[in-house]
Amino acid sequence: MKKISMLINARDRISHINPELYGHFSEHLGRCIYNGIYVGENSTIPNTDGIRNDIIEAFRNIKLPVLRWPGGCFADEYHWKDGIGEKSKRKKMINTNWGGVSEDNSFGTHEFMRLCELVGCEPYIAGNLGSGTITELSEWVEYMTLEGGSPMSELRKQNGREKPWKLKYLGIGNENWGCGGNMRPEYYADEYRRYQSFCKNYSGNELFKIACGPNSDDYNWTETIMKSLNKYQTRGISLHYYTIPTGDWNKKGSAREFDNDLYYSTISKTLYMDELITRHTEIMNRYDPNNDIGLIVDEWGCWYDVEEGTNPGFLYQQNTMRDAIVAACNLNIFNRHSKRVIMANLAQAVNVLQSLILTEGEKMVKTPTYHVFGLFKEHQNGELVYCFSEAAETGDKDKIPLLSSSASVKDGVMTLTLANCSLEDSAHISCDIRGFECTEASARILTAEVHTCNDFDAPERVTPAAYPVKLENSVLTAELPPCSVVSVTIK
Ligand code: AHR
Repeated sequence: MKKISMLINARDRISHINPELYGHFSEHLGRCIYNGIYVGENSTIPNTDGIRNDIIEAFRNIKLPVLRWPGGCFADEYHWKDGIGEKSKRKKMINTNWGGVSEDNSFGTHEFMRLCELVGCEPYIAGNLGSGTITELSEWVEYMTLEGGSPMSELRKQNGREKPWKLKYLGIGNENWGCGGNMRPEYYADEYRRYQSFCKNYSGNELFKIACGPNSDDYNWTETIMKSLNKYQTRGISLHYYTIPTGDWNKKGSAREFDNDLYYSTISKTLYMDELITRHTEIMNRYDPNNDIGLIVDEWGCWYDVEEGTNPGFLYQQNTMRDAIVAACNLNIFNRHSKRVIMANLAQAVNVLQSLILTEGEKMVKTPTYHVFGLFKEHQNGELVYCFSEAAETGDKDKIPLLSSSASVKDGVMTLTLANCSLEDSAHISCDIRGFECTEASARILTAEVHTCNDFDAPERVTPAAYPVKLENSVLTAELPPCSVVSVTIK
């Protein structure tokens, strides 16, 4: 057992935790949209306008705040006009990025906006800069947000939507350093400047425009973008970083079969997110000391080799307690950087990469990762407070920090989230809470042997449970078993 002293000073309010840090991503990829979120109106699976009811409910239960769509790499080959109007007449296309499958465009703008309405989340549209045109993107904004009197607003009305939607988050391109056009940052910055000029605020809608940011540690990309764009042109730049257990894209490792060494190297690689954010933030601070432009980690999560027998282009993988630890570590990192990081989107919501949810026909499973979002949800809209923990390391060769933590206060209630990353040691926490009157503490835990997952035969193997903690004279004590995620509510 490792003893760890902690200190929380609630008088030291550091930054606001935007709900959008708990955001998600849904791409036209594999079974994320089709046969995942969207089953069509005629499906026997209970649905609302073609969207699975169980998924809507699951998303609502974790207060899913924002959903990014339609990609990913798909976004830069998506032509939105193919996805509106009478479904039988919609143009088909080949999804060249993801398995070369036929895309019938039955899930388009109206269906996505309906999904967001049903979930109660903000839509985040990723526009096509790579293979589209400025006219196409500016017309999409007009179609979605202009009240009336223009060709696009009239077209929307003809398609059954009288009132415009509210659209806040608009990404202009995706991974334009790679699948979105293989551009140099100077070229992309110039293109971005043109595109954004024609994406206008209509009918009281105010766009929050997001530029494509760096691929993990491409600091030159961030430097160039920050040098070229100002706060009137962009409110956010995105960062993409995936956790690959082996570090080798050609043999990433299996979702379920891994030894302790590979587990620790996964956690060590995921904790690299902290260094990435710190270093990109340092660059952003030089150009934008007032924090007008946010860092948006709009793709993150574990990327493994696909499950045997599944389409390699569909990126379907299982999800174990290792993923839960990864999720908890990242969410604590995002909280701690919430002064600069204003949104983050896990890749991806359903049936793709580190999913919240897996489906098979009418069956649906909530993954350990889903439950971590449930345990952390009360951080949304909280104020991050100072939270220090004594250094303690895991016993493996990577010597990663044993404990991941963050704390916030909202409406007089403190939320403290913890992950014990060790597979061997339990952690005895003794946390001195200052600057906060408290008499009660309760906790919930997610824990299981690290390879444990939920599947269609046993959907509740890993599920949160109440967990005893003690609070005496403003000192919280708790014992965290190895490989566990705990959320403590303190009042
Ligand atoms: O999330 C899967 C893919 O990863 C996205 O399409 C792309 O943006 C990234 O490379």
